[in-house]
Amino acid sequence: MSASLTLFHSPASPFVRKVLVLLHETGQLDKVQLQAASLSPVSPDAAVNACNPAGKIPALRLPDGQALYDSRVILDYLDQQHAGEPLIPREGPARWRRLTLAALADAILDAAVLSRYESVARPEDKRWDGWLDGQRQKIERSLAYFENEASEELQGRFDIAAIGVACVFGYLDFRFADWDWRSRYPKLAAWYADAAKRPSMQSTQPA
Ligand code: BEZ
Repeated sequence: MSASLTLFHSPASPFVRKVLVLLHETGQLDKVQLQAASLSPVSPDAAVNACNPAGKIPALRLPDGQALYDSRVILDYLDQQHAGEPLIPREGPARWRRLTLAALADAILDAAVLSRYESVARPEDKRWDGWLDGQRQKIERSLAYFENEASEELQGRFDIAAIGVACVFGYLDFRFADWDWRSRYPKLAAWYADAAKRPSMQSTQPA
């Protein structure tokens, strides 16, 4: 099958990775051609801007030219394009629970990516430690919630919530390797040790 969808991507973006993992898990990789995007908050990518006025990736261009963004919308769209069991429950309490867990994973990613930009993109004399601490607290609070309240819910099906959390740990290991989150969140560490072995995770490692 020739690819009919265009995904603007960067191999470092954990939000793009969620999309690639879902494509892999649902057997849809061949529907998508990747278009590399090179961007930061201060150096936009014109092709991405033309697709998504917010200038953010992932953005997905459909065959009719319509653009979809952000990652949540793209994941929802792609999950409705395959014949297998949905990775986002279509209805009922499970839908809202899994989407809420996925949103919490996204909130961790937002805080981690902002922290990364603050630490490497912002000029040193303009960095604000208090703001970085605030992002770190959001991340630790949310990880503690997953560890204490939701780790059992990650077992079983590798769905929208599990994909989000797995991409969180992939990004923390990639950009914050010295954080040693495994010693503070042992249940999550045990879960991720298996999740990270999935072909969809192995083939989408950040670079
Ligand atoms: C990163 O380099 O950490 C990054 C790149 C693109 C999007 C988000 C994060």
